[in-house]
Amino acid sequence: MRIYSRILGTGSYLPENRLTNADLAAELAQQGVETSDEWIVERTGIRARHFASDAQGSSDLATEAARKALTAAGISADDLDLIIVATSTPDMVFPSVATMVQHNLGTAGCPAFDVQAVCSGFIYALTIADSMIQSGSAKRALVIGAEIFSRILDFKDRTTCVLFGDGAGAVVLEASEQPGILATDLHADGKYKDILCVPGHVNRGGILGDPVLKMDGQAVFKLAVGVLEDTARASLAKANMSDADIDWLIPHQANIRIMQSTAKKLKMSADKVVVTVDQHGNTSAASIPLALDTAVRDGRIQRGQTLMLEGVGGGFTWGSVLLRY
Ligand code: ACO
Repeated sequence: MRIYSRILGTGSYLPENRLTNADLAAELAQQGVETSDEWIVERTGIRARHFASDAQGSSDLATEAARKALTAAGISADDLDLIIVATSTPDMVFPSVATMVQHNLGTAGCPAFDVQAVCSGFIYALTIADSMIQSGSAKRALVIGAEIFSRILDFKDRTTCVLFGDGAGAVVLEASEQPGILATDLHADGKYKDILCVPGHVNRGGILGDPVLKMDGQAVFKLAVGVLEDTARASLAKANMSDADIDWLIPHQANIRIMQSTAKKLKMSADKVVVTVDQHGNTSAASIPLALDTAVRDGRIQRGQTLMLEGVGGGFTWGSVLLRY
């Protein structure tokens, strides 16, 4: 009998401070940086994003999302035997955000660790949790994507600072004989490390190199559209399914044009794509679980439906998870 990883519950959290494009443009104008709602909407589809307060760390956002996912799942933190957090913006160099979340949730003992695969991080984390559940080493896993990208943006660089936001999303997985995760597919190619990176690092008590996000937007765009189609097809092939079997496409929320191109390549109509980039911006590893939770809670996603989750991000990394909800 095959053991599946089934989603028991989802949750998400967005910081209170919400900035529309007009709000952000007004703030940037004070620093002599020119942008507009029209430009941002036309090129990216983004209309607003949330920024964390100075007092919040990614672990705080992750904990809020986790609490909601646990409530939706109807289990307590003590029932968990695995916690994985996908993040590229941890509170500290170490320990991991996952151990902080574990402590915030008032539990201890189960393994807890972070995964760093930038915007593909949640897909990587979900795949690892699924492998551990299938192998029998975990029965109930909490998988979170949490980011505070506003801390690593250069607000003098209008080509990047308008694109990102902060937030967290979480799922609780449980080992089940009922179908859950049907197939997964992960990839990376380090030769693209320079087209999307934060080159700075902590060194002997200071920061060496530039600690803000650098991106070659057009190179990222071209690469993203190609790999998102490839990885979706790879997961479908592993499950002996076709694009017609997908009820909802939940891609990484980076840019509406990338998402539309991907849907077109998969012959899916736009109304089958869950879009939250307009309200959240690009929240990196948090974007897929945030979009998933949004569509679960507003009733679009129903039990028994087939979901294609897919991500692409710095590294370059990319991958997909095909699942029965
Ligand atoms: N406001 C106003 N004007 C701007 C802004 C801005 N915020 N940013 C750039 N411009 C200007 C540029 O200076 C340029 O002006 P010029 O023609 O006078 O030189 C003009 O707009 C066009 O700039 P491009 O960079 O060519 O614009 P493009 O159409 O490529 O759009 C974008 C840029 C949105 C970044 C696009 O390349 C893109 O979507 N790339 C994908 C990258 C992405 O989504 N990254 C997210 C992170 S990666 C990930 O999550 C996988």
